[in-house]
Amino acid sequence: MRELSLNVLDIAQNSITAGAKRIRILIREDRQRNLLQIRVEDDGCGMTPEQVKQVCDPFYTSRTTRKVGLGVPLFKMAAEMTGGSFRIDSVRDAGTKVDAEFCTDHVDMIPLGDINSTVILLIRCNPCLDFEFRRRIGEEELSLDTALLRGELGENIPLNDADVLQWIAEYLEQETRRLLSGAQSTPAAAPQTS
Ligand SMILES: Nc1ncnc2c1ncn2[C@@H]1O[C@H](COP(=O)(O)OP(=O)(O)O)[C@@H](O)[C@H]1O
Ligand SMILES: [Mg+2]
Repeated sequence: MRELSLNVLDIAQNSITAGAKRIRILIREDRQRNLLQIRVEDDGCGMTPEQVKQVCDPFYTSRTTRKVGLGVPLFKMAAEMTGGSFRIDSVRDAGTKVDAEFCTDHVDMIPLGDINSTVILLIRCNPCLDFEFRRRIGEEELSLDTALLRGELGENIPLNDADVLQWIAEYLEQETRRLLSGAQSTPAAAPQTS
């Protein structure tokens, strides 16, 4: 996959298949240390410790229609290729947390890509589920929580209403711009004048 946002889509899709009602996507960039952390957390059916061990193996899947599950192994590989790390914490009947850490200055680093489109696609296709998306670069953070948005919209307007999706897209675009410009205008060591 050429964009990590597509891996995130696959990992969140696993959460949906696991019956999650609330999915959190957390992205944290430390540009000084060249680190990118991605976490996908859900309240789905979870896995046993044995399943967690197997799930990183490309020949394990609970699907019966296809023998090989690749979503998790590919995400793990994308992280480890950069010298980063990967872990899954899962509790049966409680939920799953997938954590990947990337060394962004490594030659094999895959760009994050269009993460906003991934979030919008998830909301559009799953308007009854809740998604919390947070992206942080240094001290700046953007956040979107569809549970809050749902409360504001009331019962009659679904989250996949065209105007609502348009609003979300514009909000994320504007917030991403703020985040990225803040990251660029924060020099590692600003000269002090007194
Ligand atoms: N968030 C999750 N909650 C519960 N089970 C999961 C989760 N993510 C992955 N799994 C389990 O791991 C298996 C492998 O996932 P994956 O590598 O994405 O392949 P696939 O989705 O094609 O089966 C899934 O079939 C499922 O049994
Ligand atoms: Mg999958």
